[in-house]
Amino acid sequence: MQKSFDTILQQNSFTKVDLVRMLLAKGEEQDRLFAQAAKIRSQYVGNKVYLRGLIELSNHCRKNCLYCGIRRGNKQTDRYMLPDEAVLQACEFAYKNNFGSIVLQGGELTSKQYVSRIENLLMQIKKLSNNELGITLSLGEQSEETYRHWFEAGAHRYLLRIESSNCELYEKIHPRNIIHDYNRRVACLKLLQKTGYQVGTGVMIGLPFQMPNDLAQDLLFIQSMDIDMVGMGPYIEHKNTPLYQYKDLLLPIEERYWLSLRMVAVLRILTKDINIAAVTALQAIHPEGRNMAIQVGANVIMPNITPGDFRNIYKLYENKPTISQDDEDNIRVLVEQIKSTGNETVFGKWGDSLHFSNKHTI
Ligand code: 5AD
Ligand code: SF4
Repeated sequence: MQKSFDTILQQNSFTKVDLVRMLLAKGEEQDRLFAQAAKIRSQYVGNKVYLRGLIELSNHCRKNCLYCGIRRGNKQTDRYMLPDEAVLQACEFAYKNNFGSIVLQGGELTSKQYVSRIENLLMQIKKLSNNELGITLSLGEQSEETYRHWFEAGAHRYLLRIESSNCELYEKIHPRNIIHDYNRRVACLKLLQKTGYQVGTGVMIGLPFQMPNDLAQDLLFIQSMDIDMVGMGPYIEHKNTPLYQYKDLLLPIEERYWLSLRMVAVLRILTKDINIAAVTALQAIHPEGRNMAIQVGANVIMPNITPGDFRNIYKLYENKPTISQDDEDNIRVLVEQIKSTGNETVFGKWGDSLHFSNKHTI
């Protein structure tokens, strides 16, 4: 006999078939899925939301991912690199407003000069914040040595999305060469864990050629890799990229939105104590995207604090919200919105993944 939907929701372990069933929930079943995710979230990580000030360091990138607006091959975008002073100014803003943590994100660059510049920046950020700001990096695939240098200079969390855990799908959305190799990406996640970082990954939802089964596998990948944090959101097509030619194969944007929310909810139910971010791409396709993600299990938000002049240039996808989030008034609005979802914004804490501390205390 087929299991009822409510029986599935109450389980403690899930098969791929169960996950697909949850991912495809509609109407009342979707409501029950969201309610269960909210319950698990409040039981395991509490009704709290942590802030990370997001600084988009640069949109130069050595890679050519077929979906990304800042891929090397896109000649129709302006490129920028934030000067040190702008990064430090954003960090001071985060520190002064008691954000607790920042994320330094940028395209993948690997020159010696760049690696040591980041190392220096990290030390300066630690210094200006009296060692108080937590630092997450999202700077792509690097050597073990680089990961170690940056860790020793003060970064303690690292985000590297697997994009899709289905190797064949991964190969369809990346050029076939050594710097876009699936196995290398998985190896980097392992290196990061070995170095001592709390490690985040994530996937894009609603990619061309992606099936519900692939998404279920993505969730199991996250679980089996013992990942501490996840940021995942809808794929949004970008005109100046090769993947745009498949736009007619995509789910309508509204469906990608609900599917992304169900992914967040199912991930919360599956992994329980990890940190899950309500990502910008969700907000880009729906004005309530971020709030909804919080209601169905996300517990981290990353307000963009990149200094204003540069913010419009960093475009991974189109329709990216560029509203300025960096003044005190906007933070107040944000806190009110979070409150309206029944959650409390936590200030002045790193907000580390409980999953990470749980696995190190057992
Ligand atoms: N739509 C949605 N997300 C995208 N990313 C890159 N391009 C797109 C796109 N077109 C995501 C990738 C990457 C992160 C920095 O942005 O998942 O890891
Ligand atoms: Fe570069 Fe990341 Fe875009 Fe790929 S997804 S082109 S690595 S910024």
